[in-house]
Amino acid sequence: MRTMKRSHTCGALRGADVGKKVTLMGWVSKWRDHGGVIFIDLRDRYGLTQIVFNPEDEALHQESKQLRSEFVIEVQGEVHTRPEGMGNQNIATGEIEVIAQKMTVLNAALTPPFAINNEVEASEDLRLKYRYLDLRRPVMQRSMLLRHKVYQTVRRFFDENDFIEVETPILMRSTPEGARDYLVPSRIHSGKFYALPQSPQTYKQLLMVAGFDRYFQIVKCFRDEDLRADRQPEFTQIDVEMSFVEAEDVYSMVEELMGKILNDCLGAELPKSFRRITWDEAMNTYGSDKPDTRFGLELVDLSQTVAGSSFRVFNDTLEHGGAIKGICVPGGASFSRSKIDKLTEFAKNAGAKGLVAIKIGADDWDSNLKQFFSDEIRTAVLEEFGAVANDLLLIVADKLQHANEVLGDLRLHVAKNENLIPEDRNALLWVTEFPLLEYDPEEQRYVARHHPFTSPMEDDLHLLDSAPEKARAKAYDLVLNGNEIAGGSIRIHKRDLQNKMFSLLNIGEEEARNKFGFLLDAFEYGAPPHGGIAFGFDRLVMLLAGRKSIRDVIAFPKTNSAVSLMDGSPNTVDEKQLQELHIRLRQ
Ligand code: AMO
Repeated sequence: MRTMKRSHTCGALRGADVGKKVTLMGWVSKWRDHGGVIFIDLRDRYGLTQIVFNPEDEALHQESKQLRSEFVIEVQGEVHTRPEGMGNQNIATGEIEVIAQKMTVLNAALTPPFAINNEVEASEDLRLKYRYLDLRRPVMQRSMLLRHKVYQTVRRFFDENDFIEVETPILMRSTPEGARDYLVPSRIHSGKFYALPQSPQTYKQLLMVAGFDRYFQIVKCFRDEDLRADRQPEFTQIDVEMSFVEAEDVYSMVEELMGKILNDCLGAELPKSFRRITWDEAMNTYGSDKPDTRFGLELVDLSQTVAGSSFRVFNDTLEHGGAIKGICVPGGASFSRSKIDKLTEFAKNAGAKGLVAIKIGADDWDSNLKQFFSDEIRTAVLEEFGAVANDLLLIVADKLQHANEVLGDLRLHVAKNENLIPEDRNALLWVTEFPLLEYDPEEQRYVARHHPFTSPMEDDLHLLDSAPEKARAKAYDLVLNGNEIAGGSIRIHKRDLQNKMFSLLNIGEEEARNKFGFLLDAFEYGAPPHGGIAFGFDRLVMLLAGRKSIRDVIAFPKTNSAVSLMDGSPNTVDEKQLQELHIRLRQ
């Protein structure tokens, strides 16, 4: 059997090709018998072409009856215009068909466990087990192609802007700060381990000390953390670091890059610079450090307005230094009792002690809580919210941060349930001025909110001694439609400030040397001021592709329990391998 070289892909032929002799190769996507004429759709990653087997050629017609879904075949034939009224405007080759003259089965296929088309009914687990079939589906191919396009745009952009791509090690030293490390036992050094990088953070800073000035890398990172739709144990970052810069330089570089990506990959235009809000404002207005600003439902602080009411729940909270905050749901007064009960349940699960729901009638509160509030207070509350008849107020009373977080969750929940999010819009913004530290009640010490090399803001240096929890960092996140797609900071590059930071984090000198000695040493040899950022590449592509999970834009992802259903990893290994690694398993 001799096969011919393919002359065209399955997405290439058009009306202008009518009359040509062609050779196509691909997978049988659909097989149908229309009154003796057999039609198949032949598929490859470029598209579909209709192939026709006429009964006149008896032998060939007979052969075509053997074909099944996902057989790999080669077809030689002639391009014809489809008969009048038989064109298919939904596909690029819809004007033509290929009348088969010869067909070779290059490979037979078992019946696939699910049909290879966009509207797949199979569970995600089944799709992951047969990922190579799942990836044949056009929608998956489109996502992977988009991902490829983004890689190319990113590389081009950085190359044109004098950044150099440097690979950093995958086997590195474990530095237990941040998420849990993945460890790799050393065979040569009994009892010792490498860690897989959670990010190339220390290396990229060392590259700045080494004088490379502008670095980028598209790089795999590994974190052993609880997984969700936007988190994988191994994921990809676009990692960037620059010398002699301030945050503004990072912002403008990223804004230009995002403009390029959106333009190249989606043909969309972006504003030259993005909206910025401080972390404080984000938490107070949206109850989230990654606010989705495509819709309203903003948080309103009623603490002042309702002070002086006779409602005990509010008064108790205010007396204990808490806050009364709420959101206003337009048209929400029509919600049923059970719908409001469900919202209360949701708020409680999010950590609220309770949820006060007030329906707004024609010109006043339509609520039995009305009696606890004077006319003036009720009017003032309506004004604070800008509420009108038929709205619903959802109010919580709690410590400010807690109230913000609960309402942030509730805001998103209501917006999703009520379809208030305009999915066709993109909202990009910077969240800036993150707190430098956060208190870890478990470890009973401050931990770095971003990482221990993040620089405090100059204006807040004086707070490091008196009120470190109030100090803000030169740290920033880029948020797209409520997703954190990038995060970074300006780094500490001076030893004395770094020591101060370590002492705030309760990391002693010995511990600091042990964990970061090499970096601290490097800083003694002329470290330039530097800063950078890292994008979650998978998240970015997920959003560009309009998908809901990063698994949909990763060729071979893991499940939420960090398992690869296709190759069955993680798996047990045999005793000999363990012995070589000097490992005995605990019961
Ligand atoms: P950070 O930890 O914020 O910063 O990570 C940067 C971005 O990576 C993405 N991301 C993830 N994506 C998928 N799965 C995960 N498990 C996961 N974890 C994080 C997020 C996040 O914004 N070295 C610093 C960057 C710097 O300071 O320059 C860092 O890694 O989109």
